[in-house]
Amino acid sequence: MCGIVGYIGNRDSKEVLIEGLKKLEYRGYDSAGIAVFTNNGLEIRKSKGRIAMLEDKLKSEPIEGTVGIGHTRWATHGKPSDVNSHPHTDNSSKFSVVHNGIVENYLDLKDELGAKGHVFVSETDTEVISHLIADEYDGDIVSAVQRAVKRMRGAYALGVLTEYEPTKLVAVRFASPLVIGIGENENFIGSDIPAILEYTRNVYILNDGEMAVLTRSGVELMTTSGDIISKEIFHVDWDLVTAEKAGFDHFMLKEIHEQPKAYRDTMLGRISDDGKSVELKEIGMTTEQIRGISRIHIVACGTAFHAGLVGKTVIESLARIPVETDVASEYRYRSPIITPDTLVIVVSQSGETADTLAALREAKRNGARVLAITNVVGSSVARDADDVITTWAGPEIAVASTKGYSSQLIAFYLLGLYLAQERGTVEEAKVAEIVAAMNKLPDQVESILEQANVFKGVAESMSKHDNLFFIGRGLDFAVAQEGSLKLKEISYIHSEAYAAGELKHGTLALIEDGVPVIALVTQEDLYEKTLSNIKEVKARGAHVLGVANAGYEGEVMKSVDEVFSIPRTLPLLTPALSVVPLQLLSYYASLARGNDVDKPRNLAKSVTVE
Ligand code: G6P
Repeated sequence: MCGIVGYIGNRDSKEVLIEGLKKLEYRGYDSAGIAVFTNNGLEIRKSKGRIAMLEDKLKSEPIEGTVGIGHTRWATHGKPSDVNSHPHTDNSSKFSVVHNGIVENYLDLKDELGAKGHVFVSETDTEVISHLIADEYDGDIVSAVQRAVKRMRGAYALGVLTEYEPTKLVAVRFASPLVIGIGENENFIGSDIPAILEYTRNVYILNDGEMAVLTRSGVELMTTSGDIISKEIFHVDWDLVTAEKAGFDHFMLKEIHEQPKAYRDTMLGRISDDGKSVELKEIGMTTEQIRGISRIHIVACGTAFHAGLVGKTVIESLARIPVETDVASEYRYRSPIITPDTLVIVVSQSGETADTLAALREAKRNGARVLAITNVVGSSVARDADDVITTWAGPEIAVASTKGYSSQLIAFYLLGLYLAQERGTVEEAKVAEIVAAMNKLPDQVESILEQANVFKGVAESMSKHDNLFFIGRGLDFAVAQEGSLKLKEISYIHSEAYAAGELKHGTLALIEDGVPVIALVTQEDLYEKTLSNIKEVKARGAHVLGVANAGYEGEVMKSVDEVFSIPRTLPLLTPALSVVPLQLLSYYASLARGNDVDKPRNLAKSVTVE
């Protein structure tokens, strides 16, 4: 996920581009750059780091011109660095491209163009696009772009400039967002409306396979096959703050709704075409090394630790390797038994958490191989680990992690299957069954989200209490812990998560009339045992909300006060669904209490102190 902008008009384009990029920084912020037509031709300034770094560079190396494109990056192919930053160019430096998306066949195209003499300087897929367009160019930039995109597979929103035709800015979209802003004697492109909202409220929203040719005086719309099209102008009547949240009231709610996409993106390219195996090319371990792993330590903090609890069950049940999950701030100080055949898995959304990083370094010092699961390419954790599985959830802004956690679960499912395949502990048919069920998860999450409003009422009554409990057995207990943390973090209601069978050994003393208990009942083999535990709290006056699998809600309802059903999936995969209602309950409880949902008191998104 990156942000792109473009401008053609009479203003100093760099001002427009920089302002636009700042609005898009939520889409990524590991590097930024702009390309502008100046008196010396097409000039590029780009820099690793935040947009402020680019602004500093522009002070020492100014450029001026009234046509330009810009980019803020969230690294996918190639680490964050000056050379991997956009805009990219070809060997003649006559073409310049900004890109949001992933070109899946870029390596094939790169080989082909390389054989024709093109020399590449970066590790990115985008650089290949600029070379491809240059290669296709025969005097008309529009048809060159059309031919180039026909050869590309994957997702792209592009802004393209060529020094040969300095009165044109070409924009094209497939599976990545792109809007065109219409001004007076000036026109704009942006990944999203906020990037251009300061200048115009009239926009065209491009669909897949559509492109726009912008000049100062107008915008021509067409398909990538060259058919001219017309579109209605969309008039934007909302303000900037709303726009950055894509119409949602809070980043947290937006991120909850982004989970289906995060699941799809995290699975993309990691499952074989026939759906019978998982392919994790990013793991450099040989089959022999994987077979030689004697134990796994999963180390993480907060929500990522809770993902690690699910990861333990997933890996143990599929790959039959003993796994321990540890809180990173404790790990180093308990002298864990780390041997060269120990695999340490560190999990960190941000990749910058100091406790996790310290644990990673400790593990390496002791000779373990370290695999990171992180959402941020080029983060400290990603750089220091031996292998990295990136979760493609996109930038997470709300302090309370939602899509970060659930995409970590997807990473664990992929990893568990991969380790099992390599160790021969799982049949091909079983892998195919799990993969097929995983492919259904995004739509199943959508179906839960469609009923999001159901949770408002329940959350409002919950918000009147100062204490509540989450209970569950097995994987339900792992998810209960995440649900409880989410609620505490943003609603400030005290809650405890308990293994349902453990309540009777002490905590039951706290149950009295009206205390809310959220009971997860999704593990069908533990179903009857959990229902017995629910009856124990009901008998002491608790008000119980059950989360049950579809088809079981009638039966569960006999033991609870309210029930919410989640779509049926394999028992191992239920956490990827059952966490969603808990996220929504926390969100609405926080809202009902009038809290700052996205920025809860005392907390920070990324904690870089031990
Ligand atoms: C902070 C955040 C938590 C997060 C934890 C780990 O404490 O407030 O929401 O779960 O750090 O973050 P990480 O980026 O390492 O996953």
